[in-house]
Amino acid sequence: KHCFRRGADGYLYCEGVRVEDAMAAAERSPFYLYSKPQILRNFAAYRDALQGLRSIVGYAVKANNNLPVLRVLRELGCGAVLVSGNELRLALQAGFDPTRCIFNGNGKTFEDLKLAAESGVFVNVDSEFDLENIVRAARATGKKVPVLLRINPDVDPQVHPYVATGNKTSKFGIRNEKLQWFLDSIKSYPDEIKLVGVHCHLGSTITKVDIFRDAAVLMVNYVDEIRAQGFKLEYLNIGGGLGIDYHHTNAVLPTPMDLINTVRELVLSTDLTLIIEPGRSLIANTCCLVNRVTGVKSNAWQNSSDLVCMEHTRKGLFSRDLINDSECYYYVLEHIELVSPPTPGAEVATFDVVGPVCESADFLGKDRELPTPDEGAGLVVHDAGAYCMSMASTYNLKLRPPEYWVEEDGSIVKIRHEEKLDDYIKFFDGLPA
Ligand code: LLP
Repeated sequence: KHCFRRGADGYLYCEGVRVEDAMAAAERSPFYLYSKPQILRNFAAYRDALQGLRSIVGYAVKANNNLPVLRVLRELGCGAVLVSGNELRLALQAGFDPTRCIFNGNGKTFEDLKLAAESGVFVNVDSEFDLENIVRAARATGKKVPVLLRINPDVDPQVHPYVATGNKTSKFGIRNEKLQWFLDSIKSYPDEIKLVGVHCHLGSTITKVDIFRDAAVLMVNYVDEIRAQGFKLEYLNIGGGLGIDYHHTNAVLPTPMDLINTVRELVLSTDLTLIIEPGRSLIANTCCLVNRVTGVKSNAWQNSSDLVCMEHTRKGLFSRDLINDSECYYYVLEHIELVSPPTPGAEVATFDVVGPVCESADFLGKDRELPTPDEGAGLVVHDAGAYCMSMASTYNLKLRPPEYWVEEDGSIVKIRHEEKLDDYIKFFDGLPA
């Protein structure tokens, strides 16, 4: 069951609530609209898949760092994967259990590592200098740090190069031929660090579970090699990365159950606790960006689509999404549809749906077939729960919109305030006139 559905009356619903009514309640647009029950359902899919395994679901906070969302996931029993001191602070604020949290990253600062050591989270070792800084942080805080080695299994995740991380040339993880060096170093710091597991993360938007299995096989070989040297490992972390169906094509994509089943026997054979780090597959489909059509513009050139101009862009605009052309998007943007039934007689045509930002890369969808919308018509961009708000820029001073969710009983609740120009002007308080 999915939260956003077209009702028999032709209106788009979020759970039992018409999106149009949410627009009226919000009194403004754009905004992000979540289904809280969908968050619970997505988590339940992982919980059910993990039956029979000792496991930690470490939610990747980078995907969406809305505080009420974090609290819900924490209440469900999630741990968290954190990649900055601020993400770590926010996770602690949201009440996550530090012993279910992993601090990860290729450029962790000494300051952030001290905070990690102090709070008792697991820390991934990513490089020689990182190991050195973790040891220093342990000494500075007097805490022994539980660490996992982030290993590159060198498995091709078959995704856009910008979201591939599990290959040898990636900037993340240790160089595998130096594994023995890392093990020897770790042995020389018995008071500062304790090696408790291994980690890998292959990439994001992965749609074939065999890839996870191939990586798990290699990781289990590493586990054997490391155990043979007397280390008492407890955790096998296979990262996140499960993709979702952005195109709504009815393509059968793997579920959390498919993912876990493909590694289940292997994990059981190691007697380790499995850690997985989903971001996108937990949160992306729980949310739409609700927008309005500012106007429709004819582009007048032969073979060029007319334009539907929106108030706001999915990520504010994040032009690093792009290399050169739309082929190179991480994932060609999401499913877009009108909130309300079209005006009778509205002609169905092909449009480019574009944002207002001063860059031609700012489009939400190309060649989309839509009934010609009226000015002010509501239009949603689906699957906007992951890596949208958390990556949004405020370019052109298009400030970040508010967020709402629909609760189990159908109430519409604001879960983040909109940014205001005053918030921005405060950055200059007390500075030269
Ligand atoms: N674990 C680690 C170590 C990661 O680097 C990531 C995501 C995850 C877990 C969660 O992956 P997920 O399940 O969400 O695929 N900016 C991109 C996404 C970057 C993902 C980075 N790492 C985007 O806009 O889609």
